[in-house]
Order: sequence, then structure tokens, then C-alpha cells
Amino acid sequence: MAKSKSQEFLFRDSPPHPLEIVNSQGSYLIDKDGKKYLDFMAGWCVGNIGWKKQELHDALIKFNGPEYVSPSYIYKRWEHLAEKLVNLLPTKEGTCFRATGGTEANEIALKISRAYNKRKKFLAFKSAYHGQSLACLSLVKIPDHEKHFGTFSQDYIQITAKEGKEEWEKTTAQAVKLIETKEISAFICEPIICNLGVIIPPQSFFTTITNACKKTNTLFICDEVATGFGRTGKWFGFEHYNLNPDIITLAKGLSSGYAPIGATIAKPHVAESMRFDFSNYSTFGWHPISVEVTIANIDYITNKNLIQKANDHGKYLVKKLSSFCTPQGRGLCISFPEKRKGTEERCRKAGLIISTLGEKILLFPPLDISTEEINTAVEILRQEI
Ligand SMILES: Cc1ncc(COP(=O)(O)O)c(C=O)c1O
Repeated sequence: MAKSKSQEFLFRDSPPHPLEIVNSQGSYLIDKDGKKYLDFMAGWCVGNIGWKKQELHDALIKFNGPEYVSPSYIYKRWEHLAEKLVNLLPTKEGTCFRATGGTEANEIALKISRAYNKRKKFLAFKSAYHGQSLACLSLVKIPDHEKHFGTFSQDYIQITAKEGKEEWEKTTAQAVKLIETKEISAFICEPIICNLGVIIPPQSFFTTITNACKKTNTLFICDEVATGFGRTGKWFGFEHYNLNPDIITLAKGLSSGYAPIGATIAKPHVAESMRFDFSNYSTFGWHPISVEVTIANIDYITNKNLIQKANDHGKYLVKKLSSFCTPQGRGLCISFPEKRKGTEERCRKAGLIISTLGEKILLFPPLDISTEEINTAVEILRQEI
């Protein structure tokens, strides 16, 4: 497709999908010709509550507070949001750090960890994803990034996430050995690994790893940027495993995409390690508008019972898909193998937005997706995969 003049001024790493979005509504994206597309990606786990929700728009429009508050002042709504977030955790214990998005939230987590145990090394899953900063890219060492951005520091060590009992046993043993050196500051991962095609580690992996972490004063960082806020049928993905992470990172569904925001929540004694001058600063972290929208988003998810809905709708979607493919996932965080190339494009032409990653098809619809919308999407997938 020929580039327009205006496109020349905007950098893109690859050509855009041929879809010009002008609006969104409920579970749909709307293009420049008024065509509606069922949005089964929700911007990659962003729009958990769906688009154009009145309650969120009201929060934006009715807000009459300061345009901006400098991080060093008192702002009561920050305290209110921090308390609200901590109260969503099963332990109801934590200290929040303000961020603008997922990458920054993870950077803060890595800093807290180093400040806490004064170790330099980190352990993560190879080719997973925690953000675009050099530290976040170093964590996962995606080969192309290593090639173009230079060799990453040896302080970042990777284990592999491959499906299958034996593979997990091998990975678990390797990780424990590394953790037992007492040189690792933290192990970071998604509880359900969306960025590797919705891989679900077994309970035994997390139980063994977190026990090893506890014994060696190694921190466990749970990246809930994609899995948080109901995506997997619980507020947080780690709840499926009954875990108690030392640090949790949040973004995306935290505001359901109505404004940019990120957060890092650390256990209080871990957060204490950051109590020194200029340990962290984020000019736009928890901007007042983002804070209002995030508070409204949490209330919306709660009032509309969206966590339960994600469970129910997820079960229904998996049941429907099972008649012609082998879906796996939790809640509305679902993937299944792609049978022939080009599914994403064929589905888009048929009015359904999905994504492919490696050889997997990914589905992350809004949590309040209706039965009719699921039926429509399933029929398109049945035809097009
Ligand atoms: C699991 C995970 N962590 C971190 C990030 C980075 O978040 P952001 O793009 O808001 O910096 C992403 C983004 O896709 C993600 O999926």
C-alpha cells in the first residue's frame, strides 16, 4: 500500500494493519467507512470493560480538580486510588508506586528489587515481554532486539517456558538452581504468559519457585499488566495459583484504556528499601485525569460483576471453540493453534479482530462480551482458521 504524505512523518517499525479506526463502541471498533469490527483483542488486554462506557466518560467530564499535581505534593485522590488497589489484593497489604504504563511499572519493580536485596541479577522467561525499556528488553532477550540493540548485560538470565510436563520439570529445576545461588535479585513473569501465546505454567512450577525465592530472599515479581483486572476471570492472574508476590505490576486494564496509567505494588517491607531521596520520580505518573478514570474503572468492574462475567463468558467461549479447535486459557485470556497462515487478515475482512503470535491465535475480548457476540466471532473463526 502506498504511503500517504502524513504517514511519512510517523515512524512505524512495520506497515500498519490496513484499518483506519475512527471510533469504538461496546465490543466494536469502527473504521473510516463506518464498518464495525468485533474487537476480540481489546487493544491486547487493555479495554477490559469495553468501549464508550458512560460511567467512565462521566468520570472524565465531571472531573473538576487540578490539571496536574507535581509528584512531591499531597493529592488525596492518589491516596484513595492506592488504598483501593491494595484492597483488591487477597492480602490487602501493599505500597503503591505511581507510573504511566507497564514498562515503567516493571522498571520500578526491578529498581525496588535491587534496592531491597542489593543483588544485580534477574531471572525471566526467554522471549516473553515486560516492556520496551532496555532493562525490560534485557530481561527476555528477544533475538532481534539483541542483534539490533547490542548484547544485553549478563545480569539478565533466562529460562524457557515450553509446554509439557517434562519441559516444566526441567525449567523448574534449572530455575531453582539459579535461585539457590542467592545471586538473583528477582524472578519476574506473567502468571499466565500472554506474551508467549497464553502459556499456563503448572501449579508445581509456581509452588517450587516461590518456595525457593522465599528461602533465598529472592523476590517474586508478578507482571499483571496484561493478566490483571479480570482478564483471566480473577482480579489478578496470580490468584489462580494462590500466590503472594512480593511485587505486582499493573497497567492496561487498570484504566481499561480510557487514560494512560501504570502502578507497582510492593509488600510494605520491600517498598521500604526505596525510602531514599529521588529513588523514583514520574512526572506524569498517576496524572489526575488518569486517576479519576482508574477509580471509575475499578468501580465499574466491581458494580457490573465483570470478574464473574469473564469467567462465565470464558467458559462459554471455550466450549463453543472446542467443537473445532483446542482452546486453552483462563477467563477471557484464550489461545489455540493456527491451522493455516493469514487467519488474522481473513478474520479482519470478515469483521473480527484477533491476533496471532507464533503459531497461536489469541483472543482477549472485553469482559462483558455478549453471548450473541461470542456466537458471531466463533462462526467467523470456524470459517477462517
Ligand atoms: C505483560 C506485559 N508487561 C508489560 C508491558 C508493557 O506495557 P506498556 O506498553 O504499557 O509499557 C506489556 C505490553 O504489552 C505487557 O503485555
